[in-house]
Amino acid sequence: MEQETDSLDSKRLEINMCMQMHLYSPPPTHVSDTCKSSREFCGVAPINVENQRIVKGNPASPFEYPYQVGIVPHFPKGPGLCGGSIINSRWILTAAHCLVNEGVMANGIEVYVGSIYTDQAHSVPVALYFPHPDYVDVMKGNDIGLILLVNDLVFFRNDNLQPICLGREEDIPYGGKAVVTGWGAMKYEMEIRDLTITSTVAAPVLEGTQMPQVLQEVALDVITTEECSKLEDLPSDTDKVICTLTHHKDACQGDSGGPLVAQLCDGRWAQIGIVSFGVGCADPEHPGVYTKVSAYLDWIWNTIDVNTC
Ligand code: ARG
Repeated sequence: MEQETDSLDSKRLEINMCMQMHLYSPPPTHVSDTCKSSREFCGVAPINVENQRIVKGNPASPFEYPYQVGIVPHFPKGPGLCGGSIINSRWILTAAHCLVNEGVMANGIEVYVGSIYTDQAHSVPVALYFPHPDYVDVMKGNDIGLILLVNDLVFFRNDNLQPICLGREEDIPYGGKAVVTGWGAMKYEMEIRDLTITSTVAAPVLEGTQMPQVLQEVALDVITTEECSKLEDLPSDTDKVICTLTHHKDACQGDSGGPLVAQLCDGRWAQIGIVSFGVGCADPEHPGVYTKVSAYLDWIWNTIDVNTC
């Protein structure tokens, strides 16, 4: 009996230590006093999109988006192109439609980390992937998924690899700016339109010049969901999406699954959205639609808890 308690205790300890290894990292050292945050270490990124100089974005600078990953899902119909984000040493956040297409799971997922240049990012092995169980198609919402890596990413002293914070509802800057990044199309051209059929599936990998070699960044205006629903057909649970609308600027095919981030009051960055869908790209009458991360925090942490160790 005593022995059993002992072994249970040691199991618990083992799990705790393991959870700590994956989920816990020390708090940041420079959090201003007026803005104490209990968040784990995350979201430290030297993002600077002020020069304003995706569609009509800028190439990113090295180290600016250390949480950004590139994802290539392999579907029976062919490979796709998506983005994603590092949320802790083992887990990548992306869109469900980057993992499953018309009910068919991808038969392989490649994840690339560690560089803004497609030819310098390196591939890390994937153990498992989890589209949200209630995902059917992007128009019905729940376009969110998680990828479990085989090995831990090492953040220590690596400015190319860092986790992003997960945004809460109060972090969403309605009426303000947020930043989206990706290696997706820089122009919504005929070819993209024809190949993607609808803008609701993972974009196929395209040959040619319209896909950038360098990660692109663009600052966008976050509009209220009320405004958005006047312009766009949204999933019925409108509380679980966020929209952006900015003249000539938008995410586009191939950016799906990528992070939309907003700055926290302590200077760090939190992911508030996941690129989900849009009608065309940068169309003045059609907002970009994102899965609202804060609406899925319980699902994210539960999935991670249940599948860690
Ligand atoms: N579904 C697209 C993809 O798989 C993303 C579309 C985003 N479109 C937009 N206009 N914001 O890459």
